[in-house]
Amino acid sequence: MKICVLPGDGIGPEITAQAVRVLQALDLKFEMEEALLGGCAVDATGNPYPEATQKLARQADAILLGAVGGPQWDSLPREKRPERGLLGIRKDLNLFANLRPAILYPELANASTLKSEIVAGLDILIIRELTGDIYFGQPRGVREENGERVGFNTMVYSESEIRRIGRVAFEAARKRDKRVCSVDKMNVLECTQLWRDVMVEVSKDYPDVALSHMLVDNAAMQLVKAPKQFDVMVTGNMFGDILSDEASMLTGSIGMLPSASLDENNKGLYEPSHGSAPDIAGKGIANPLATILSAAMLLRYTFGLEEAALRVEAAVKKVLAQGYRTGDIYERGTTKVGTQEMGDAVIAALA
Ligand code: IPM
Ligand code: MG
Repeated sequence: MKICVLPGDGIGPEITAQAVRVLQALDLKFEMEEALLGGCAVDATGNPYPEATQKLARQADAILLGAVGGPQWDSLPREKRPERGLLGIRKDLNLFANLRPAILYPELANASTLKSEIVAGLDILIIRELTGDIYFGQPRGVREENGERVGFNTMVYSESEIRRIGRVAFEAARKRDKRVCSVDKMNVLECTQLWRDVMVEVSKDYPDVALSHMLVDNAAMQLVKAPKQFDVMVTGNMFGDILSDEASMLTGSIGMLPSASLDENNKGLYEPSHGSAPDIAGKGIANPLATILSAAMLLRYTFGLEEAALRVEAAVKKVLAQGYRTGDIYERGTTKVGTQEMGDAVIAALA
């Protein structure tokens, strides 16, 4: 069971260190090796996804990632940006299925900016296609036309790409409330009309799962109006990027949300849904729980270790019930702890 650990930039190294400690505490004999991705990789090698990292990531069964990016790399040319490392590893390893659960823990009901009756008990799973769409479509660029600059990108999906992410959504729904809402913009975009048509075709193989469709603008509205109406949402790369950030904030803190990006064989990259938070990097105050919960997803999806995954998730619930909070989820009457102490608490709660 080989895990490639990519701490990345900003708070990445601090939070992955805690997730690694949690994995080690399970005593399951993982082989773990670290490599560089993102800004730290650009600094060391000039490439945000260097060859040594490619080699290790390809050989590993699973990848645990912290976060990439920071202001010091923002002015670099596009191919040297840390984000390019992240997009590169997703594409290189064919990690087309991005699972982003948004769950509101009862202890954190007050952390949401929405009224608690709107979000209490929230449990939705956003499934975002991750290796296609306008993120990777050709042609793309900025060209000169009639004496002015014209920027262009291409939204493109083949039916096989839509079909395989559709299957992931229906399979996931089968293990939950058996409802899939597919999000598109078929009233304007041909590409997403095909998306809708193929989703309807795929749904014929899943008569036990209810399929509905929603236009993306309405979906954005419904997510804040009545988020509990959703079970599984499935959508393309770009809409999924936007809707998953929106969904994460329903839970109050993006510091709690894990994610998994899987290929067809359940090889996966696991990372918190949040970014590298350069403003608090190195201070030992970042919330490691999203990364620890990502490690739980790693146990479940890549290694099929359901029991170990549940154990980690139960430990996280326990530390919340015990009142431990990092700054992002702190409220009066709870105990404020740092990154390392939160890791200690989770490990203690595993027992
Ligand atoms: C995400 C991020 C990335 C994306 C960026 C960092 C390239 O926003 O994982 O949601 O747009 O996919
Ligand atoms: Mg995003």
